[in-house]
Amino acid sequence: MTWEELERDCRTCRKCGLCEKRTNLVFGDGVKTAEIMLIGEGPGEQEDLSGLPFVGAAGKLLDDMLKIIGLDRRKNVYITNIVKCRPPKNRDPFREEQEACIGWLREQIALVRPRIIVCLGRIAAGALIKENFKITREHGQWFDMDGAKAMAIYHPSALLRDPSKRPETFEDLMELERVIKETKVNI
Ligand code: URA
Repeated sequence: MTWEELERDCRTCRKCGLCEKRTNLVFGDGVKTAEIMLIGEGPGEQEDLSGLPFVGAAGKLLDDMLKIIGLDRRKNVYITNIVKCRPPKNRDPFREEQEACIGWLREQIALVRPRIIVCLGRIAAGALIKENFKITREHGQWFDMDGAKAMAIYHPSALLRDPSKRPETFEDLMELERVIKETKVNI
């Protein structure tokens, strides 16, 4: 499947009830040939309105965090979410909604072919790395995902709610930078 075919099919998706309330489907943003892919949970209000992932307050924090280690959605990362349509009142996407939607993400991963996948928060890590992922214990650790290296960090919204988690995330970013350099990932 090509990017054009995938995006066209995804934009008309009606696989779950989230399609009923969307203003825009949020497909993804960034560099489609990037070696690093970032995956969040699902669009919030600003994302639903704009059609782009991580453009609200959490997105600004994410961009600032990425900048510290030389990452930038305009240059070297691709960003998307587990579910492509906004869950009402920003609730966690239900398991059935994640299961209905994750096929689009798997196709995106197959097209990007990232060497590193960073899950943003518990929901993305639980859907991609392993069920019952414990973000407080397992953030910053590396897992294998079909040959790609996968790590989860706290979701930027969690860092906005609880700034005391920021030093741990800084350490995780340092680890991410270390592995990018060590494995000569292109940035
Ligand atoms: N939170 C997410 O998980 N994804 C977005 O795109 C925005 C906020």
